[in-house]
Amino acid sequence: MEALAVTAVAPVNIAVIKYWGKRNVELNLPTNSSISVTLSTDDLRAITSVAVSPQFSEDLFWLNGELQNLIGSKHINCVNILRKERALLEAADPGLKKLSNWKIRIISENNFPTAAGLASSAAGYAALVFSISKLFELDLNQTELSKVARVGSGSSSRSLFGGYVAWQAGNLENGDDSVAVEVAPVSHWPNMRALVLVISAGKKSVSSTGGMQRTVGTSTLFPARHLKIVPERMSQMEDAIRAKDFGSFAKLTMCDSNQFHAVCLDSYPPILYLNDTSRAVISFVHYFNEYYGAVKLAYTFDAGPNAVLYFLEEDSAQVLSCLKPVLPAAKIPFEVDEGPSGFCFDAMDMLK
Ligand code: ADP
Ligand code: DP6
Ligand code: CO
Repeated sequence: MEALAVTAVAPVNIAVIKYWGKRNVELNLPTNSSISVTLSTDDLRAITSVAVSPQFSEDLFWLNGELQNLIGSKHINCVNILRKERALLEAADPGLKKLSNWKIRIISENNFPTAAGLASSAAGYAALVFSISKLFELDLNQTELSKVARVGSGSSSRSLFGGYVAWQAGNLENGDDSVAVEVAPVSHWPNMRALVLVISAGKKSVSSTGGMQRTVGTSTLFPARHLKIVPERMSQMEDAIRAKDFGSFAKLTMCDSNQFHAVCLDSYPPILYLNDTSRAVISFVHYFNEYYGAVKLAYTFDAGPNAVLYFLEEDSAQVLSCLKPVLPAAKIPFEVDEGPSGFCFDAMDMLK
């Protein structure tokens, strides 16, 4: 059987200025820009294998071992955008194989809880888009790929880059300027550390997509957030990252997480992602910073109860010694890391 296959690994990213709200649902165009930090693929990652063959009779996708319904999905939208790019190459060079007409098989696995507020959609769509772009030998840079990944899941646009990444909301109706760009590479601030506290691995009750639509439609606090506060915070956060000012970075991160959860509470019916343990973590972090007389530790929560803590390597002994007795499940700190990587592999496993 003739087949071509590629495997890619992509990281999660955890936003420090949150994306929450779409101005265009179909294209995942956000109401505001956002900034995130890309975590190491040694820790949390999606791994995705894609194969195409003229012998495949239908497109198929398995996620964590379960066959998914691709019809009408954001996954197939991303595949089809990349097929169109491939078709352009094939039209320009008749010697190329007509891969754009071949059916695809996708197998992906996350090594962390899926749909639990730990950015599985970010790693997942980044791995999908990255692996197919390699399979089709497309000549698209990271920013161009971020545009395709964005159509799958907004946050995934930022997982095409390592280090410190901004997703610019853009102004255009077609989304051509709604792309991710690098704010700073990993090497700029290499002593940043992240610690993920898995408080609940269960699937969230309100998806990110559904939750943000409810907020846009019902929260009266939301306009102040996306029109005024986030634009100010975006430039403050970029400045903090460029200046490696951890105190400002941490304060902005915590305030933005809190405001995101405040507009969730202000939605109707309210969206409650945090639980009592999440709130205990918030209290602990403020207590820790007060005790040490400096803002050395920051928390942020995505659309779920799980906490991500940011701190600097030089403070990691203090942070870990305080956390270990109460949270034995806490893992060693994660490093900030480079973006996705891909490799070719033997396709035979996917052909059975
Ligand atoms: P999370 O907080 O984990 O990002 P979301 O509600 O934003 O949760 O997205 C979860 C959805 O993302 C899943 O239902 C699935 O459709 C998609 N997803 C998760 N992991 C992957 C993956 N590895 N490959 C492709 N899609 C994925
Ligand atoms: C709270 O990117 O998962 O994590 O675009 O609908 O797939 P869709 O939503 P998603 O939302 C992420 C929301 C967030 C904040 C962030 O990552 O910026
Ligand atoms: Co998500």
